[in-house]
Amino acid sequence: MQQSKSAPIQIQWRMQYPPIQPKTWHRWTMKELTSGIADLTKAKGSEVLEFFLSRAFHLNLDRHTGWDLTELGSYADSGALGATIFRRGVAYRVGGSQDSLLKSGNYWIEFCQNVSLEKRDECFYVIDSGIPAELLPAWTREADAGVRFTPFESVKNMETVRKFTAEWLRLGRKKHWIIVGGGICSDTAAFAADLAGCSFELYPSTLLAMVDACVGGKTGVNFPPYGKNQLGTFAFPTEVTVCLQFLDTLADEEFRCGVAEAIKHAILARDAAKLSKLAKSSASANRAAISEMLVELISVKSTVVEIDPDERGQRATLNLGHTLAHALESLAANNGSGEADQIRHGYAVALGLAFVTKVSMSGFGLHKETGVQILSALKSSGCILSSVKLRKGLALKGDDDLIKAWPRISALTTQDKKSQGGLSEWVVLTRNGEILRGKLGSWTNQVSSELLADAWKWLITWIDGTDHQL
Ligand SMILES: NC(=O)c1ccc[n+]([C@@H]2O[C@H](COP(=O)([O-])OP(=O)(O)OC[C@H]3O[C@@H](n4cnc5c(N)ncnc54)[C@H](O)[C@@H]3O)[C@@H](O)[C@H]2O)c1
Ligand SMILES: [Zn+2]
Repeated sequence: MQQSKSAPIQIQWRMQYPPIQPKTWHRWTMKELTSGIADLTKAKGSEVLEFFLSRAFHLNLDRHTGWDLTELGSYADSGALGATIFRRGVAYRVGGSQDSLLKSGNYWIEFCQNVSLEKRDECFYVIDSGIPAELLPAWTREADAGVRFTPFESVKNMETVRKFTAEWLRLGRKKHWIIVGGGICSDTAAFAADLAGCSFELYPSTLLAMVDACVGGKTGVNFPPYGKNQLGTFAFPTEVTVCLQFLDTLADEEFRCGVAEAIKHAILARDAAKLSKLAKSSASANRAAISEMLVELISVKSTVVEIDPDERGQRATLNLGHTLAHALESLAANNGSGEADQIRHGYAVALGLAFVTKVSMSGFGLHKETGVQILSALKSSGCILSSVKLRKGLALKGDDDLIKAWPRISALTTQDKKSQGGLSEWVVLTRNGEILRGKLGSWTNQVSSELLADAWKWLITWIDGTDHQL
């Protein structure tokens, strides 16, 4: 195997459970359970879990509210599982106080040129079926290796987690999972592995998974209609192997989705040279040029993750552009947009980055030159959807146009994990392009609804335009 020259990156992590100490408690009652579930005594565990989660979202419980399950008798177990995965984990207690756990470790991200996978009998494999057969050994298609998975946002859900778990049980509860795939596959399978109490390692097979999803220990699935990645855990892989050959077979549009997250990293690093290099390499779909930047791009994220692994503060900066992105993805899912028409995460992020750049220029003094640099890089990278494609992706019908969709999109931004007290919180840029610190040192800020609505109007004109009317 030809080795790439990129030096491996070591990531140190530490994790506390619960990730955040509660400020208040929600006391769950049997009355709540019996009025929410028609025949509680006959309900399956998955239904009870679903009830806890739906109700918690409905009540808009946040990460600072613990779950008091003391009154629930035998149903407390489902409640405890719900608390463990709700918004990546909140505190719970049954009677006394909950023990807190502190874990730490480290893992390496290694780089190699060619894909090389060996069959290890002690491992359970989850393989993204979008990877062309010629890249993988024949044994990966044998039924005893594990599962093959066709990734769509619409199946990034608890049902798929249950299917993976059922196969894992059928194949003898192997203690280590090897996950080969793009971001949907790795988020879902790593979540399932963690819930099964297993360790896992990752072979990211898309640019987005290499630059972003394999770094930082976030696992999880969507929970419609309550939004993207709302259920999950913090769990770190034992190792990550980035095989650059995977990029050769990636469709150009998937490649650009990865570029969008890479652009986010270049903005966070305030690296104008990297921004324009990324835009040029993306426009020509130049895999080699981006491969050379991978180590630096990954390091932008890994540095933040090491400082704040369980998102109590600075990690929120990695959500730059994601408040709008997640709302667009949720609206597409809620409108029942078809699998092929859905808005890919990377394209939603690109729109979110342009949006937040405009918000930062109009409301927070981001310097015009820096704003235009970011917008030009986004536009010329080819990551910005046209209004026709955006409308189709959002599954807007009849005379329901993009302008009219804003109230629904805006409502969904308050469901994002960063939202507090019903008002959406945004990661925005200061005059110099740094992340603006909010009240009490937080990394997010509230933005007025007028400013947001204006930025949306601007965005849907800008995406089809040829200049940067500001
Ligand atoms: N955990 C995290 O920190 C994190 C960070 C960023 C994004 N994400 C998540 O990642 C997901 C998006 O991931 P994605 O962009 O990789 O999309 P994806 O997982 O949908 O993969 C894109 C497509 O490429 C196919 N594919 C995979 N490898 C291939 C290869 N080598 N050659 C050809 N085709 C291949 C897949 O089958 C799929 O059809 C979103 O759900 C997002 O929320 C997670
Ligand atoms: Zn993302």
